[in-house]
Amino acid sequence: MKLRESGMPEEGYWESLFHVELILDRMGIDATMCDVAELGCGYGTFTLAVARRISGVIEAFDIELLMVARTLQRSREAGLGNVRAEVRDVLAEGFPGEPQTKDACLLFNILHGEEPERLLVHAARIVHPNGHVLVIHWRYDPTTPRGPSMEIRPRPEQIIEWAQETGRLRFVAPVLDLPPWHYGLRFAKTTHVNTHPTDSP
Ligand SMILES: C[S@@+](CC[C@H](N)C(=O)[O-])C[C@H]1O[C@@H](n2cnc3c(N)ncnc32)[C@H](O)[C@@H]1O
Repeated sequence: MKLRESGMPEEGYWESLFHVELILDRMGIDATMCDVAELGCGYGTFTLAVARRISGVIEAFDIELLMVARTLQRSREAGLGNVRAEVRDVLAEGFPGEPQTKDACLLFNILHGEEPERLLVHAARIVHPNGHVLVIHWRYDPTTPRGPSMEIRPRPEQIIEWAQETGRLRFVAPVLDLPPWHYGLRFAKTTHVNTHPTDSP
């Protein structure tokens, strides 16, 4: 199911709303990271920049074929050999592959959708024990030029609570300022206590 209010505006406009390199610097994405997964890659706005930084492969997923095609086209044009992108409903199906195989999982501008806790569980599942789930989202501020309705837009504290409720993620303070319009949150994977047997590990 396509998540609510997850449609994209025109590419150039969307990409004018972020300082991508500053965001990746502050989120700690660099060559010490090997393999990364991304839920909802959109136009590849972050996918390509992450691919240039990490030492491994970024596997990106989107429910929209057009978004996956655009991300792949851009990565080919940029000569990047470490981008994979695939159509997948991550809410329904989770991430493919073995659990505990990624250094990081990116949930960028996506946790206003239905069942954010389920997405956080999916993300926690595929990161290895020293890995991180990295979240960015629109500030809880009605004057941002874009972003989901305030009724469904999560505050940082709300996302931290959801993550803690998964029993698998620990917030790594502080809340990061990602000007002009976003904030960032880093979560470390915790040692798993199996309170959700169907989702293990
Ligand atoms: C608001 S955009 C964010 C794109 C990208 N993360 C960024 O920040 O530039 C959300 C993306 O999630 C995708 N999406 C929505 N529901 C999805 C689902 N169930 N599984 C995978 N992707 C989904 C949308 O098609 C859209 O490209």
